[in-house]
Amino acid sequence: MAHSTSPLRPRLPLPGVRFIVAIASGKGGVGKSTTAVNLALALARQGRRVGLLDADLYGPSLPKMLGVSEKPQVNAHKKLIPLWVDNLAFLSMGLMVPEDSAVIWRGLMVQGALQQLLKEVDWAHHHTGDLDVLVVDMPPGTGDAPLTLVQQVVVNGVVIVSTPQDIALLDARKALAMFQKVSVPVLGIIENMSHFSCPHCHHTVPLFGHGGAEKEAERQEIPFWGAIPLDFSLRCSGDEGQPIMRTNPEGFLGKVYTQMAHHLWQQLNQPASS
Ligand SMILES: Nc1ncnc2c1ncn2[C@@H]1O[C@H](COP(=O)(O)OP(=O)(O)OP(=O)(O)O)[C@@H](O)[C@H]1O
Ligand SMILES: [Mg+2]
Repeated sequence: MAHSTSPLRPRLPLPGVRFIVAIASGKGGVGKSTTAVNLALALARQGRRVGLLDADLYGPSLPKMLGVSEKPQVNAHKKLIPLWVDNLAFLSMGLMVPEDSAVIWRGLMVQGALQQLLKEVDWAHHHTGDLDVLVVDMPPGTGDAPLTLVQQVVVNGVVIVSTPQDIALLDARKALAMFQKVSVPVLGIIENMSHFSCPHCHHTVPLFGHGGAEKEAERQEIPFWGAIPLDFSLRCSGDEGQPIMRTNPEGFLGKVYTQMAHHLWQQLNQPASS
């Protein structure tokens, strides 16, 4: 890797934010953004003060998934005010640049843009008191953004999302290794698109294999938070800007995300073990 992994300056906590949690994977398209949105909403339903930051500068997908497109305002101190969506303080580069505009970011620009999205923001604006958790949806891979994030601020933990396929697991292992190298605790692994449940006969088919992420979690002694099936309504919810945790929090998937949000909160509040 061409980057230096040891930050030159000591990392500081982000003012107005208690815990920062990144949602990451090695491979693209495995369901990071879907997971980030629903976990953030589940945490908010549990009464936490939650922020959601879309750190995917190349392909920000959270505005679409949440169904919002307003431009954020700035406050009297020239800090960005996050949007207020379903009790989440939300910010994405997708709200700042026109949709479909090809933005070509280079290393330094990524650093600058991400730094701005993190630090030039009044994260606590909508809440009384500091945010409990800022959930950060990472772009795929182990490129500039994850390293910039961990070099800018204290990241309290990362959640790794993987499909059960070997190739995705290999990439997930790379992402795991990267976060471990920069001393960010891996809080848990989630297997997404785990098996397909037929909406008609409810027969379950492990399309991409099954159990791979759990085995990997066991091998690495990392908590396994469970599996999310390949689900038609989950796919539609993303396209329609109506996340499952908004429309059906008491349904099967809603309960799975709620359980995962419990794990997340528990892991954050237990004394450091890694
Ligand atoms: N469990 C699931 N069942 C069905 N569809 C899903 C599931 N999880 C995610 N999807 C769909 O798969 C697509 C990719 O998901 P998503 O955007 O969350 O992945 P990502 O890891 O954030 O991708 P990227 O690496 O491009 O940021 C989306 O259309 C989403 O709705
Ligand atoms: Mg994404």
